[in-house]
Amino acid sequence: MNIVNVDYDGLIPNNVALGRDVRVKRALEKWHPGYINWWNDMGPEGFQESLVYLRTAVSVDPKGWAKFDYVKMPDYRWGILLAPAHEGRKIPFGRHRGEDAWQEVPGEYRAMLRRLVVIQGDTEPASVEQQRFLGKTAPSLYDMRNLFQVNVEEGRHLWAMVYLLQKYFGTDGREEAEALLERRSGDADTPRMLGAFNEKTPDWLSFFMFTFFTDRDGKMQLEALAQSGFDPLSRTCRFMLTEEAHHMFVGETGVTRTIQRTCEAMKEAAVDDPYDVEKVRKLGVIDLPTIQKKANLHFSLTLDLFGNEISTNAANAFHAGLKGRFREERLKDDHSLESGVYPVLRLIDGKIQNEDAPALSALNMRLRDDYVHDCNNGIGRWNKMIAEIGIPFEIRLPHVAFHRHIGEFAGVHTDTNGNLLSDAEWEKKKSYYLPSDGDKDFIESLMQPETEPGKFAGWIAPPKVGIDNKPGDFEYVKIA
Ligand SMILES: [Fe+2]
Ligand SMILES: [Fe+2]
Repeated sequence: MNIVNVDYDGLIPNNVALGRDVRVKRALEKWHPGYINWWNDMGPEGFQESLVYLRTAVSVDPKGWAKFDYVKMPDYRWGILLAPAHEGRKIPFGRHRGEDAWQEVPGEYRAMLRRLVVIQGDTEPASVEQQRFLGKTAPSLYDMRNLFQVNVEEGRHLWAMVYLLQKYFGTDGREEAEALLERRSGDADTPRMLGAFNEKTPDWLSFFMFTFFTDRDGKMQLEALAQSGFDPLSRTCRFMLTEEAHHMFVGETGVTRTIQRTCEAMKEAAVDDPYDVEKVRKLGVIDLPTIQKKANLHFSLTLDLFGNEISTNAANAFHAGLKGRFREERLKDDHSLESGVYPVLRLIDGKIQNEDAPALSALNMRLRDDYVHDCNNGIGRWNKMIAEIGIPFEIRLPHVAFHRHIGEFAGVHTDTNGNLLSDAEWEKKKSYYLPSDGDKDFIESLMQPETEPGKFAGWIAPPKVGIDNKPGDFEYVKIA
């Protein structure tokens, strides 16, 4: 079978010759009903019978890997798709650099590798759970379709990780695969593994911020895992990144269109002061300071996903050749990091300052720096939109020490510029930096569904082009 094309004959579409791998095929077929139960219970609520215009991967050829069609989400063909193998691939970093990439799990790193796969896997169903009620308040059928596209692909990403667990990790892999269906986002007893994936995604601005900031963390993690010396992990992450690009798109353009509508409404009504929140809100759009607060919230929650700035786990995973750096192949150094330093922002004697740390220990910090850089590129495009319409306002990322729960700054409060605040000052000021109950209520009041083809809720501008080049009034979801 050609690796580029996908075998769609069986229950589980795949390009890993599952038909010839009876043990794994059976294990996945056994796991499948539990997955469908999970999807029906925790997937998009109220739309399981609707026909949604979705893309499905039919190939892993970058030039044409997807086809679009109407499908009921529970009938979506979730499959196992690995990017094509690179003949003779070598481990690109760490102490095994230059050796042949592993096609089987190296025994000495089994536990570490399983943990990396499980943590990545856990985030995928979590975000579906977080977003499950949003269909009911979609600002358009176009947006609703994008939400569901992201949801089914996160479901597929779960399949991607479960395949690795079932194929390469025996009994404990099977147990981990079951557990991935048992944890629930936000549940007090069986929460998802990482904090940001237990937060609520209560409204569409949160959804766009989540896909902009938190899916972008996903992208960074996938980029780092795509470097892995464990070749099956590398190949599965490479294909996941193809899908992830759409999630970034949904987040970035979603916020851009929200900002655009706000700025246009202000211009139309000759409201010049972006800080005159009451006046702006009367126009039925989300004021820019509140959009800034939402960005502050989602950025800070997402930074926690990078873990401790100084981390032995990260050092070990790199040293072992399991998890690399962002775009490792483009970096010009020895790829072993056994010497050398990296500047880490720390809290020293009550002051936030840079301190050089061994480069190997500072890998989380480094990935986080790459992430912040990537975020800033997107925010630049938001600000370009604001400037083009002519409103005096700029969205800015808060300081990395702001509102943190993990790492160096977990124990302190700061303002969005990174100035330390006492507990009392924080309590007094936090509603300037983070959405207040009043802000949340206002946003919620705007979340009225718009289900007529081609129409959009008043707080968001239409997109420039449709999905799959469809016309503006295309019926992306046929609501049942
Ligand atoms: Fe994902
Ligand atoms: Fe994603």
